[in-house]
Amino acid sequence: MPLNSFAEARTWADNTLAIQWNLPKVKPTRVEDSAYIVEGVDIQEARNTCLLFSPKDSSLSSGALANILAIFKKHDINLVHIESRSSLRVPGYEFFVEADGKSGALGRAIEDVKEQCSYFNIISRDYKDNATAVPWFPRRIRDLDRFANQILSYGSELDSDHPGFTDPEYRKRRKYFADIAYNYKHGEPLPHVDYTKEEIETWGIIFRNLTKLYKTHACREYNHVFPLLVDNCGFREDNIPQLEDVSNFLRDCTGFTLRPVAGLLSSRDFLAGLAFRVFHSTQYIRHPSKPMYTPEPDVCHELMGHVPLFADPAFAQFSQEIGLASLGAPDDYIEKLSTIFWFTVEYGLCRQEGELKAYGAGLLSSYGELEYCLTDKPQLKDFEPEVTGITKYPITQFQPLYYVADSFETAKEKTIKFANSIPRPFGVRYNAYTQSVEVLDSKPQISNLMDNINSEFQILQNAITKLRV
Ligand SMILES: [Fe+2]
Repeated sequence: MPLNSFAEARTWADNTLAIQWNLPKVKPTRVEDSAYIVEGVDIQEARNTCLLFSPKDSSLSSGALANILAIFKKHDINLVHIESRSSLRVPGYEFFVEADGKSGALGRAIEDVKEQCSYFNIISRDYKDNATAVPWFPRRIRDLDRFANQILSYGSELDSDHPGFTDPEYRKRRKYFADIAYNYKHGEPLPHVDYTKEEIETWGIIFRNLTKLYKTHACREYNHVFPLLVDNCGFREDNIPQLEDVSNFLRDCTGFTLRPVAGLLSSRDFLAGLAFRVFHSTQYIRHPSKPMYTPEPDVCHELMGHVPLFADPAFAQFSQEIGLASLGAPDDYIEKLSTIFWFTVEYGLCRQEGELKAYGAGLLSSYGELEYCLTDKPQLKDFEPEVTGITKYPITQFQPLYYVADSFETAKEKTIKFANSIPRPFGVRYNAYTQSVEVLDSKPQISNLMDNINSEFQILQNAITKLRV
């Protein structure tokens, strides 16, 4: 798949020839409901479809674009944005248009345009309505802003059986946390929170209990990192660490960063964050009436469970591979990848020096299950993504089955192999310099990448030669 980010389309490089039609002006600063807000267009109605195509004769002077635009006109399609650039895929130009999905006969227009093109692709959040569309996914790290607030439930909405449901003070506090996350934008410092005495006491109970078990129950990598978090990020019984400090620490270790989230993201969006080494983190804490129980992730789960291993290079790479595999994947594969995430990043066990150890965050943040998972009660199976990805699991009780990995490296290799089975017509690669995902779907792109890898390889060869001297 080619360009699939409207944000990227807006930042095409020097060879971009941007054409602004006499259509409603686009405000590029805020996104809701998967489309940029367009003046004069109701937000709820603004569910747009982005198309990328190269006409068969795609020189700008040939009138090919005018012919394509005539097709949109014929089918009464409103275009809210149009840009062109020289193509990396085919000789000549390619065009990016954003069509108002509620206007005219878009399906028929797409069929007609396709016939005129040597290259064509559809990018849409409404991909379910169009079997040929690849689901939209973020291409640049700042694109995460586009779905951060497309949450399935707001963080202050509690179920009737939630321990804090009848506590107005707690609900008020949850709203505060949800609001600061809602207003967060990529690049800003993570919100500083002054936790209350009661919140710190709740954290302290959990911290005290869990740290008794880590030496014997947590994996080697966890026990290597945890003291560093104590020294650098204020992981203490009497202090709830600030996400900003933790995020900066992770960035220094592996490039992972945290991002506050106002509520529950869809699996697709949550996994997409991992592709950028971004972990969406809650910042509130569970209700004080039940410190050893939480029906949802809270700051204890994120900081005690997830954070230490994101500082480990091999685990960070493994987590990112799950995220990269999810980009543009069909829904059934998103479900499989979410299940793989559940049985590894959340509830994974591994073997180290002949002993079972926990590395999953759901285990490392739960005193009861951390003890239980290493007993002979649960069933154990080797981690195999094809099998793990279709295993059913309960979410309100200890897991009856755990999957065991030999190492993060082998889990990563198996996950990459599984990712290759995902039906999508392109490869993806994360470019850490630009913090963007490169979509590899043409020979020139792959050739460029091979040149880069060759030069990296030469650096390695030179270094090895020097070692031999
Ligand atoms: Fe989690």
